[in-house]
Amino acid sequence: MLDAIAAGMGQKQDILLRISPGVDPHTHHYIATGIVDSKFGFAPPEADKAIARAMASKHLNLLGLHYHLGSQISETEPYRTGVEVVLKFAAEMKRKHGFELKEMNIGGGYAVQYTLDNPVPPIAEFTKVIASQLAAKCREFGLGLPRLVTEPGRAIVGQAGVAFYRAGASKEIPGIRRYVSVDGGMGDNIRPALYQAAYEAVVANNMAVKADTKVTIAGKFCESGDILVKDINLPPVSAGDIIALPVSGAYCVPMSSNYNASFKPAIVMVKDGQARLVRRRETLDDLVRCDSD
Ligand SMILES: Cc1ncc(COP(=O)(O)O)c(C=O)c1O
Repeated sequence: MLDAIAAGMGQKQDILLRISPGVDPHTHHYIATGIVDSKFGFAPPEADKAIARAMASKHLNLLGLHYHLGSQISETEPYRTGVEVVLKFAAEMKRKHGFELKEMNIGGGYAVQYTLDNPVPPIAEFTKVIASQLAAKCREFGLGLPRLVTEPGRAIVGQAGVAFYRAGASKEIPGIRRYVSVDGGMGDNIRPALYQAAYEAVVANNMAVKADTKVTIAGKFCESGDILVKDINLPPVSAGDIIALPVSGAYCVPMSSNYNASFKPAIVMVKDGQARLVRRRETLDDLVRCDSD
């Protein structure tokens, strides 16, 4: 399709070919993208055919390969394996088709720490492993060093954001669970409902009080699966309290929706004690603006 579009525009388009290297990143399977049974990228032998076809095209300039193993990867090993698998494949394609790997884009995926009991390696540890493996395997497979590109997402912004909710009613089911409802949920953060993502939470207006009451923070949406945090210790929560979920800077607002015709929240930037509204809360007018009379 790209070939035809570039031809139609009379252009020669630089491209990378997306590869599925078949590496298990040990993350939730909804956010594993480089395994063989994945909708993303070409796995060999299709990748071999795709390279031959791209190289044969007059309108495509195959600069190199791209892959993305998955997201929230908390081990360095999948990156080490990914680099080896893809460079080995590139060397095979060099022998077979004369393919030159000028650029290698290894995607992103570096985990950030969401919960206190789940520390992750610093980003420098990932980059050290990736860079040293790239140099070693290029030497081993007789390849020149390609331009290395990475595209981190969550690691840049995840920890910069905090989501604030107002607590509503609570419900105690004796011997089972205490639910605290809040005025948001899967509409502004689909991650817990979509792939059981875990978060810490605090009562922002009551930080000094000991967190010794186990609660489950329930979203306001009409789905039993709309639970923001399951079984977390908080200080006693009353209606009106502000519950804060740290590490909400990635994949919350961009994946938010108007689920059940709800309004998307406002965004406030805070720096050096100054707050600035950068996106206002939605209103009914926003929700109906595409409707016809
Ligand atoms: C191709 C590609 N690159 C990079 C990223 C960024 O991933 P992360 O935010 O986990 O670093 C994604 C996320 O989906 C992606 O699909």
